Amino acid sequence: MAISLRRRNLSRLAFVAAALFLVRALFFPSSDPASSSRSFATTTHTNQIEEHNFIERATRPDKSLNVQRHKFLQSRIGRDSRHEVLGDVIRNGINDYWDRFQLPYIMSKDTAPMDAQHVLSAIDQLLSLNGWVAALCPTLVRPFNQNKREDAWDDIIRQDHIYYFAIVIHSADHFLVDQLAVIVQMAKRLGNNNIFVSMLDYDSRDSTETIVDLCEAVLTLLGVPFRIRRVPGMTEDPNTAYYPLEEAHMRNLALEPLKELQQKRQIKFHRVIWLKGFTCPNDILETIKISLANDAAMVCGMDWAEHNGFFIFSDRWRTRDIEGDQFRQSKSSSKPDAVPPRDKVGAARYAQHLPFQVFCCEAGTHVVDPAQSYYKGISYRAGTDFHNLSTTEEPPTRNPDSPCLDSSQAWFCRDLWVRSARDAMDEVDRVNGGSPPRGNRKRDVELIDVAQRDPLMDEARAANAEEAKQKREAAAAALDPDANVGSDYDAMSDEEGGEVVPPAEDIEQGRLSIPNSVFRPARILVNPRCPTTYAGVSHTQLALDLFGNGETNEEVRGKYVLEDWEGAPESFVCQEQRQTGGRKATKTQRRLGFSIHDELQRLQ
Ligand SMILES: *[C@@H]1O[C@H](CO)[C@@H](O)[C@H](O)[C@H]1NC(C)=O
Repeated sequence: MAISLRRRNLSRLAFVAAALFLVRALFFPSSDPASSSRSFATTTHTNQIEEHNFIERATRPDKSLNVQRHKFLQSRIGRDSRHEVLGDVIRNGINDYWDRFQLPYIMSKDTAPMDAQHVLSAIDQLLSLNGWVAALCPTLVRPFNQNKREDAWDDIIRQDHIYYFAIVIHSADHFLVDQLAVIVQMAKRLGNNNIFVSMLDYDSRDSTETIVDLCEAVLTLLGVPFRIRRVPGMTEDPNTAYYPLEEAHMRNLALEPLKELQQKRQIKFHRVIWLKGFTCPNDILETIKISLANDAAMVCGMDWAEHNGFFIFSDRWRTRDIEGDQFRQSKSSSKPDAVPPRDKVGAARYAQHLPFQVFCCEAGTHVVDPAQSYYKGISYRAGTDFHNLSTTEEPPTRNPDSPCLDSSQAWFCRDLWVRSARDAMDEVDRVNGGSPPRGNRKRDVELIDVAQRDPLMDEARAANAEEAKQKREAAAAALDPDANVGSDYDAMSDEEGGEVVPPAEDIEQGRLSIPNSVFRPARILVNPRCPTTYAGVSHTQLALDLFGNGETNEEVRGKYVLEDWEGAPESFVCQEQRQTGGRKATKTQRRLGFSIHDELQRLQ
């Protein structure tokens, strides 16, 4: 077990141990001190969201997220009870501290009342301990001076909507405390009873579990509703897993409380916020504002990872510009002709720090409108005709136009496009009582496999890929090679041809029987003013690279609202995992046609 203690976690562990002392000391005074001092966090709530009872249904059903009234709004499922490293040491220390310093104090009549303010300020101290998070955010440069205006988000806060925060943790202890700090900030701004936090620990093998205890304690103290759940991996051996399926599985599990709250208590959230990596609270609020102003199905931040002393745009696996092309792996300081989005309009708007439309994104923190997605029955999914390398079966035969075996987010985006088109047609139907136009000419798209186009390049690439693979395997001595070390981790590397964009001319435009441009577009945007990063990154430098001095005219047009929306691209760069092998399994890429009309017909 000791191997799992990577060095960077040591200081975190020390911090967490100290934090647990404090939180625990504050957490249990009101409950039975004797029993709580023996086993940490023994709160046993009902795990399930309860339906409105008979009386509630007859009167006015309570749709609040009030944790005092509804205990089931705070629950923990599947606590990891494996033996912990240093677990005994921590427990002994806690018991000792409790028995000698806390218990006599709590039991004494004079000192018993513990001021809630006392508790809250302790949490503040606790979270600001962790370096740059809470402390640095307000000082970072942002365009349009938006960090300098305290009242910038008052309109969102006044609306009193409810928001759902979802986090999937897969061996990512190194940014969980930071994310918790952000959640506490958001709870303060939006109101404790206006947010719900869903944390899914997917088979983490590092110190995530301990930090999740801390999260539970802090959220309980603050009266924030939550469900924290730990689940085992989909396959026993992570190397036999198929990553896109795992992604879909984790995401859907993290959304379970959302659906339960809707079905059992008719509680509907205004937006779902997926936290990935670290994003400053103001940037999340701004992304929510952009989402609301555009009635957007999804708005993503941009993910920047440190790479040889530079910051590069990450998450190129899941992001596609409005022409279906991959983003560039640009540096944060890139020149205007080499910015992440390749399409002209997107690049121009990016350069002005304005939100721009994309075909798909996930990069970092992103905000989803559940009314346009989850509440309409869209959930995360992935391709299933992959090759399981652990079996002796032959690889499945796949046609050149079989669906792309890419990330579950890419599937989600395509589902959003098709859904948006279908909804618009249904609306027209309802108004006219007529039926939408129906063509029956089959799409006729040529599919170009990059590998087939240039055998020499292919050979060189294969050699490079082999070398890269060997390097990776050497590096994979760590306990959990699949850990969440940054969202570009699962992108196709340049050696494997990740930078080779199959040109769009290969699939001729206008071949579709009914062009995508006639359908109502899905509103998917990237907000370049919302950087997401990881611990250890120099946020001040990143902000300067991206936004310079940040002094831009306040009244920029299109600061929040995009006025012209494009239809879906007729083809996109499909980067797929055709086989099992965890997150870093080999990927190949091709350009694949995308016809909303065909997709709609498939649904019928
Ligand atoms: C692949 O096959 C192995 C062995 O049969 C099985 O344990 C594993 O779950 C399979 N993987 C997937 C993703 O289905």
